[in-house]
Amino acid sequence: MTDLIAPSTQLATEWWGLVDEFGDEPVHGSGLHDRSEPAREPAQFAAWVRTRLGAGRADTALGPGMVHADYWWIRHEGRLAGTITLRHALTPALLLVGGHIGYAVRPSLRRQGIASAALRLVLAEAAARGLDPVLITCDDDNLASARTIEGAGGVLEDVRDGSRRYWVSTAAAAKPLGTEPVETARATLATFTRSEVGGILTGRRRPDWDEAFPREDDLDAVRAATDEDPYATRGIRDRASGLVVGTIGSYGPPDREGRVEVGYGLVESARGTGLMTDVLGGYVRALLASGVREVVAHTEVGNVSSERVLGRLGFERLRREPGPDGGDQWLWRLDGGRHETGLRGGEQS
Ligand SMILES: CC(C)(COP(=O)(O)OP(=O)(O)OC[C@H]1O[C@@H](n2cnc3c(N)ncnc32)[C@H](O)[C@@H]1OP(=O)(O)O)[C@@H](O)C(=O)NCCC(=O)NCCS
Repeated sequence: MTDLIAPSTQLATEWWGLVDEFGDEPVHGSGLHDRSEPAREPAQFAAWVRTRLGAGRADTALGPGMVHADYWWIRHEGRLAGTITLRHALTPALLLVGGHIGYAVRPSLRRQGIASAALRLVLAEAAARGLDPVLITCDDDNLASARTIEGAGGVLEDVRDGSRRYWVSTAAAAKPLGTEPVETARATLATFTRSEVGGILTGRRRPDWDEAFPREDDLDAVRAATDEDPYATRGIRDRASGLVVGTIGSYGPPDREGRVEVGYGLVESARGTGLMTDVLGGYVRALLASGVREVVAHTEVGNVSSERVLGRLGFERLRREPGPDGGDQWLWRLDGGRHETGLRGGEQS
């Protein structure tokens, strides 16, 4: 299996082993410019890893001519196999050579489909960012890279300054939202089985529910839920306690504009620890990765904690509207093409 992981100081030894395997070759898609002994010293290396992890966040200041970019290490069967980056925008220089995506696979693991698999994963990330199509370039004589790009559906625009310039659609890489659980850092979000829905609605309690679950709002959300609908309300199972502590879901599938409205809630005892920022962030990421273009939410006026969660995840507050219960509510919106803040995590260890 090929997957992508965030750069991590914990893999320092394996990382430098990979870098050394490249010899004098550049490690495309790594952001690595300095392989000297001082750069390998733990404090320097940790600072470099931090810079890579911060490079994708919109609030990170950039040098002139630089764009925000996500960096991943490619792992294959548990081993570090290469590097890949997704740039969030093109400058005039990148439009000529460089493009949105750069990658490299360590020499000993080439020709096993690893670059192709990693590129598919990053195309899905690009789709989730609303980048479609993306530009990928390679040297005119780099047959391996050209074949990799063509295998991902790349369409050659031209060859400029010795560089082949391909456009790749990301739409096909979007992963439809399935009914399987969405895993976030702190919770598992799983659809309810029919028997669970029946149990919730008839007051049959389960030992793995928090004692305050379900709340009135959970009951309303669960009433319409079925385990065949990926957008239906899901239970939020806090991994630390093992208990279901709330619900999160969408009011129906995406509309014609690719817009989805989300609703969520936690029992009192699970609030105030950042759990909903993690849960909603993970849920929204899964929606965007499935091709959803825009996510909206309503908060009752005065619900400061819910406003903070949405604000932290990059939602913008659009307008005040009359709510269903007589009071006013705020409409919030996250534009999938421009979600820059809050949805990317820090160092994962
Ligand atoms: C380009 C690179 C990332 C490809 O990685 P990889 O994991 O070997 O690629 P894959 O195994 O997924 O192969 C993808 C396609 O390229 C073909 N290919 C790979 N290496 C090849 C080679 N040396 N000669 C000809 N074809 C080659 C494969 O057969 C496959 O084509 P297919 O799907 O039609 O069979 C790797 O060669 C590399 O790291 N090169 C140096 C860095 C670089 O050039 N990065 C790209 C900068 S634009």
